[in-house]
Amino acid sequence: MIAPHMYKMAFLSKGIALNANPGQFVHIKVPGDNSLLLRRPISIHDVHPQTGMVEIVYQVVGKGTRILSGMNAGQFIDVLGPLGNGFTISREIKSALVVGGGCGIAPLKLLMRRLKDMGVVVKALLGFRSREAVYGLEEFEMLSDRVLVTTDDGSLGRRGLVTQVLGEELQQLPDMMFACGPTPMLRIVQQLAREYSVPCQMSLEERMGCGIGGCLVCSCAVRTPDGGFEYKRVCKDGPVFWSQEVMLDEAPNER
Ligand SMILES: Cc1cc2nc3c(=O)[nH]c(=O)nc-3n(C[C@H](O)[C@H](O)[C@H](O)COP(=O)(O)OP(=O)(O)OC[C@H]3O[C@@H](n4cnc5c(N)ncnc54)[C@H](O)[C@@H]3O)c2cc1C
Ligand code: FES
Repeated sequence: MIAPHMYKMAFLSKGIALNANPGQFVHIKVPGDNSLLLRRPISIHDVHPQTGMVEIVYQVVGKGTRILSGMNAGQFIDVLGPLGNGFTISREIKSALVVGGGCGIAPLKLLMRRLKDMGVVVKALLGFRSREAVYGLEEFEMLSDRVLVTTDDGSLGRRGLVTQVLGEELQQLPDMMFACGPTPMLRIVQQLAREYSVPCQMSLEERMGCGIGGCLVCSCAVRTPDGGFEYKRVCKDGPVFWSQEVMLDEAPNER
């Protein structure tokens, strides 16, 4: 356990560790309970290609994640991945603002590691419920040039939501913004990205079935150049989308 209800799990998979891109996820078969037919999607938190170690961080919210949190070291786990389309990191990006809230902070570690490796100046804006919910701060600090923490109750860092300080941080106009968190947070990120004309990629979390593009359970509406919209699959076309495309204001993306 790394914070109340938050767990970190590491498992060995050379294939995932070597091939994972930031923002991609793994689809996990919950062991030992045949009533849980659907796999659970969890973002890749970090990978260590030399050892084949893959890390995930998850919150216990239901039966599946509760069972995962009770697993013992050495137990076998059935994992598919890496799945989905992660964040796009191009050589043109020299400065990045990484914004995360709650469970949405988990996939940002690998993203920050890759940005740092490419010499990008990385600022991170991370929002937690309270001081006790904070995890991995030292690692996030190592992987970025500056970390600004907000907590809802002000017990660590600035009081309030990440989105309340985002406007200030955007004054410096980063080349790219990357965001992952709850839909209400993403809505404000999207609005501010538009206001400041900063390109922004955001990772969505939608309920999933197959996780590989076959069942359409995870559809989300995305704007098309002709002014209309089309449905895309969060599991296969995403979970990362360009903020100007994704229609968070519309009912289809509400959980
Ligand atoms: C691409 C992707 C990446 C994700 N990455 C992470 C991660 O890194 N860490 C993490 O803690 N969680 C992550 N999630 C959410 C995670 O998949 C769910 O919390 C998990 O499947 C719940 O399983 P359960 O059996 O414990 O709960 P269930 O019994 O299935 O559900 C319990 C509660 O959680 C809600 N819930 C279940 N699935 C989702 C979902 N996909 N999105 C939002 N709410 C959900 C349900 O509505 C219900 O209220 C991710 C989801 C997606 C789609
Ligand atoms: S979960 Fe089946 S298509 Fe996305």
